[in-house]
Formats: sequence, C-alpha cells, structure tokens
Amino acid sequence: MHSGAALKGSRVAVLGYGNQGRAQALNLRDSGVEVMVGHRVGSCTAELARADGFTPCLLADAVPTADLVVITAPDEAHPQVWEAIARSVTPETVIGFCHGLSVHFALVKIPTSHGVVLVAPKGPGASLRQQFVQDLGIPALVATHQPGTQPARTLELRNGWAAAIGCTRAGIIETSFAAECITDLFGEQAVLCGGISELIRAAFETLVEAGYPADLAYNECCQEVALIGDLILKRGLAGMQSAISTTAAFGIVDAGPRLIDPGVRQRLREVLRRVESGEFVTDLMTDAADGMKRLHQSRAAAAEHPIERAAEKWRAESGKSR
Ligand SMILES: NC(=O)c1ccc[n+]([C@@H]2O[C@H](COP(=O)([O-])OP(=O)(O)OC[C@H]3O[C@@H](n4cnc5c(N)ncnc54)[C@H](OP(=O)(O)O)[C@@H]3O)[C@@H](O)[C@H]2O)c1
Repeated sequence: MHSGAALKGSRVAVLGYGNQGRAQALNLRDSGVEVMVGHRVGSCTAELARADGFTPCLLADAVPTADLVVITAPDEAHPQVWEAIARSVTPETVIGFCHGLSVHFALVKIPTSHGVVLVAPKGPGASLRQQFVQDLGIPALVATHQPGTQPARTLELRNGWAAAIGCTRAGIIETSFAAECITDLFGEQAVLCGGISELIRAAFETLVEAGYPADLAYNECCQEVALIGDLILKRGLAGMQSAISTTAAFGIVDAGPRLIDPGVRQRLREVLRRVESGEFVTDLMTDAADGMKRLHQSRAAAAEHPIERAAEKWRAESGKSR
C-alpha cells in the first residue's frame, strides 16, 4: 500500500506539534486525512499549528470524534497526555504511538477496549516531512500492542497511518513494542546519539590537547562523519572500505579493535541491561519530575564545548566559498 487511501474519511487527532507531530499532521493532511491538532494549556507550538492552517484545540477536545489518536508529545509526557484525554476518547478509539517506551514500560495503561498501535518512523520528523514532499518516505517499524475490540479496524488504521505519513513508500517492518523500544533506546544511546557524540568530542579533544588546530580537529573528527555515514548507508560497512584509501582502511584494522575493546563491549552490554531493566526509564522519569535538570545541564555544557566554536567557524567559512 503506497498511499494513505486507507485513512481517507477517517479522523486523526495528533497530540503534540513538535518534531514528529508537525511532520505527521502535515503528511496526514496532504494524504487527504482530516486532522485535529491537540495541545496542552499554554502551549508554545499551538501558534505554529495555526500558522500551518490547523485549528488547534485542547487535548481533550481533539479526541472525541477521532478514529485514531496519535500521541506525538515527548515520551516522558505520555502519562499526562493520557490522563488529559482518557475520559474524552470513545472506547473504540485506536491509540497510536511513535515509540514504544511509554507502553512497554507501563507509564500509560490503556484499557483493553482500545487498539494500541505503533508506527515508529526511523528518522527525525524533519526528514519524514522532507521525504514525503518529494514523494519519498522514511521506513518505519510497526506493531500492535493490543488489538482492542475491533482488531481488523485497528490493523487497518495502523497500516493506513504508516502509509499516510509516507513510510510504506520506504518500507515497514512488523515488530513488537518491546523490540522497537529496546533496540531504539539502545541504538541511540550506544551509537547514534550517546556513543557518537562522546566519541567525536573525545577525539576532537585528543587532537586539540596535542596541539593541533581546532578547525582541523573538527573537520577530521566531526565534519567527515556525514560523508562516511552516507557511504556506509549506500555500500555497507564492508563496501565503504572500497571508497576509502588503503591507508584509511588499514586504520580500521589497526585502531578499531584497540578502541572497541572487550571493556567497551562489556559496557555496551551494561547499557543494554539498564535499558531492558527499566533503570534508564526510571532515571528519565526522575529527571522529568525535576524539570529535566540533568538534561538541561548537559545541553548547556554541550553548547559551551570548543567543538561548537570550531563548527561555527567551519560553517561560516564553507558558506563563504559556496
Ligand atoms: N524526534 C523525532 O523525530 C522522533 C523520531 C521517532 C519517534 N519519535 C517519538 O515521537 C514522539 C514525539 O517526539 P518528538 O521528538 O516529536 O517530541 P517533541 O518535539 O519534543 O514534542 C513537542 C510537542 O509536544 C508537546 N508537549 C510537550 N509536553 C507536553 C505535555 N505534557 N502535554 C501535551 N503536550 C506536550 C509540546 O507542546 P508545547 O508547545 O506545549 O510545548 C510540543 O507540541 C516520542 O514518542 C518520540 O519518542 C520522535
């Protein structure tokens, strides 16, 4: 199925108008779906939704006539979102998530009359929208946590949703909430966000501490990551090696196993254990209750790191030459 036709004539409430919410609401509307955008009291993003041509309303007002409610607020806010809508959704409304965390770790408990489904796009909201307007899409993982009282309709709405936001154009993989949740959290912590950020900063610091210029250190340890990432995506890890020099390829042999040694592999297993056991989610919810203090401190420190000045300089200079 390559269009959102299955959802035509259905009503979808999108709750939260951030990274995923905005992209999904726009894609759904462009696929001919009637979209209600719901927000909390005092929302900062309601004006953006209005500027995009929606008529945003409060969370509870967006859901009573919806066939499908898509929760696109941050994971740690899902308990509040569910609390705000629980008395306003009809028992047969299907509830959709874009990541399995809040359901898998039982932060929200949804009565069994509701179908509960997952469409987790494997990329940021901006890419979901960008690809969609070019008649492309990004892949998604899909799952059903509970079928509700109307299993066939639940499945139809889930698959129609994946199609209407463009994901079936790129491919959908059927999985479970648990597998999506654990692999997604582990992947972003070990590689995509946690691992790569620390590796880039540590390598940058190593060169700068040794007296090498910060702009060269930035270029080598950060700027070129995107280019190698593209090669890996197109050719695979092994295929990437045929597009780099013999010298660079020998560096993989020589330095790779020294860096990713048994100690790192043990710590990767420990990261996975913390994710699986729910310790990570407990820490997330503790920080959320504290106004995300740890997260804000870490973001402020990241913004102050010298690699950001080197990046700004690089962008300004490469912009000049374009
Ligand atoms: N980031 C991605 O591209 C991405 C990719 C795949 C899956 N996901 C999943 O998609 C979901 C949304 O993530 P996101 O990154 O798109 O979130 P986000 O951008 O941080 O969401 C912000 C939106 O959520 C609203 N919001 C925040 N707290 C709320 C609350 N307590 N009640 C109601 N609305 C609230 C905000 O409203 P205000 O204007 O009121 O602040 C804003 O409209 C998550 O489950 C995430 O795991 C995200």
